[in-house]
Amino acid sequence: MKHLIDPMDLTKQETDEIISLAQDIIAHRERYQGSMSHRKLATLFYEPSTRTRLSFTSAMMELGGNVLGFSDARSSSVSKGETVQDTVRVVGCFAEVIAMRHYIEGAQLYASEVSPVPIINAGDGSHSHPTQTLTDLLTIQRELGHIDGITIGFCGDLRFGRTVHSLIKALSRYRDIRVVLIAPPELKLPDYIKHDVCERTGIPYREVETMEEVMPELDVLYMTRVQKERFLDEDEFDRVKDSFVLDTARMALAKKHMAVLHPLPRVNEILTEVDSDPRAAYFRQVENGKFVREALIVKLHEWKDDPEHGMPEHDTPVYDETLHCGNLKCICNNEQAPSKFRRGEDGRLRCWYCDAKVR
Ligand code: NCD
Repeated sequence: MKHLIDPMDLTKQETDEIISLAQDIIAHRERYQGSMSHRKLATLFYEPSTRTRLSFTSAMMELGGNVLGFSDARSSSVSKGETVQDTVRVVGCFAEVIAMRHYIEGAQLYASEVSPVPIINAGDGSHSHPTQTLTDLLTIQRELGHIDGITIGFCGDLRFGRTVHSLIKALSRYRDIRVVLIAPPELKLPDYIKHDVCERTGIPYREVETMEEVMPELDVLYMTRVQKERFLDEDEFDRVKDSFVLDTARMALAKKHMAVLHPLPRVNEILTEVDSDPRAAYFRQVENGKFVREALIVKLHEWKDDPEHGMPEHDTPVYDETLHCGNLKCICNNEQAPSKFRRGEDGRLRCWYCDAKVR
């Protein structure tokens, strides 16, 4: 069975198949209507969402299937203390696939260990967001005609922005990608992405502190919202919240065919004056999210019983009850997930569920 917890759970070939199927769905929507009839998708959202949840719902409806679930965990048995593992065991009796968003990092990975049906991670804390990655890849492909060879600038909250972490991982499998990280010191990309992804796969990256110095070289500018809800210290959020603002003056420095992406919602990091610029791709990106989720649902169904499309071989876990994950927002510090680790590229142990360093 195939779950999608992390973008690397898909091979490069499977990722490409999903992107091409999404393009075929766009070109021939009528061919896919009804392909999921009498099938059900459960959306379990423990954290707010507009685009992700509704695009999953709309995708399943376009395919002729049905959707059940909750958008506020307080209305479910979670409020009585039910664990994520018990919840997916139960919901797996009612639906053929589950899309789950959770504010706790690693919740979906832990849930997938017992789930009778495929789990799709629709965002776990500030960790990963693989279906946004598929959306982003399809958008880059459609806007520029290729993904290989791009220079992409990630701007804003690279520390808590889960969409950034997942997209960098996925891009590490394309050719000649160059990454520019545009963030203040407080919002820099986590070390595990720099070491275990960029350095391990040899993606060149450089860190800068202003947009202006790199605008002319970018093919894609990936803007992000500063993730207010993830800060433990409100003063720190206030210091960095207005770090980067994209306006028409800054757009004037960019290439004629650069694409501006943003997973949305935006707060004030892109002024509305940019919306009418043909390079502003973020609302087209939203629609791509529906098509790519249709393609994902179709493919996960097709791959469900095919041993060729199982989960990838992961590193062998290290179990050690004397060590603890240092992340209070990790599933292993919130439910009874085991103390399970993997060895990072730098030789250090990291949490199996959330990649945090060990304490
Ligand atoms: C993003 C998310 O939830 O991580 N939004 C989305 O899924 N489209 C980005 C964000 O919330 O800023």
